[in-house]
Amino acid sequence: MEGLNIRRLGPADAEAIERITRESPQAEAWDPAGYLGLPAWVAEGSGGVVGFLAVRVVAEEMEVLNLAVEPESRRQGVGGALLRAALVFGESAGATRISLEVRESNEAARRFYEGQGFRVVGRRRCYYRQPEEDALLMARPHAVR
Ligand SMILES: CC(C)(COP(=O)(O)OP(=O)(O)OC[C@H]1O[C@@H](n2cnc3c(N)ncnc32)[C@H](O)[C@@H]1OP(=O)(O)O)[C@@H](O)C(=O)NCCC(=O)NCCS
Repeated sequence: MEGLNIRRLGPADAEAIERITRESPQAEAWDPAGYLGLPAWVAEGSGGVVGFLAVRVVAEEMEVLNLAVEPESRRQGVGGALLRAALVFGESAGATRISLEVRESNEAARRFYEGQGFRVVGRRRCYYRQPEEDALLMARPHAVR
């Protein structure tokens, strides 16, 4: 997407995050305030915020907690740009591995993460509710590319 700007998520982004979360039932439905203490970023186009990503780093592992791009802005590189920002951050935080959980039925996200070099490394049975479903655990070595 042209003119895309990636910056840290702040309190003023709450409304945009609520909207994108509503439009993205595959993402985790967190209260926007829950992102404020975390390493988290928003992607901003000319019309405003179009996506966001939050991670946490525990020891040497960076975990993607939530990622969503508004439906009309998908397949334009926004998810990839957000992930790159997290990878740059993870490098300075000393992460050596990056991992995440994804619903088994979430084909778009699985293809996205595979394209970013992630592979399925495990399964968590009945991890999700409403509807109940397994999570696939995906991971890759941490490297900025
Ligand atoms: C997963 C998600 C964040 C990807 O964001 P995005 O901005 O579309 O990703 P990018 O444009 O950077 O990457 C697109 C690439 O990912 C893959 N991809 C993304 N959506 C896809 C789909 N629906 N079908 C197949 N491949 C897909 C393709 O390889 C695609 O490249 P291409 O468009 O050249 O074929 C977005 O689909 C989304 O918000 N989904 C709903 C929320 C969600 O599932 N979050 C993840 C929870 S773990």
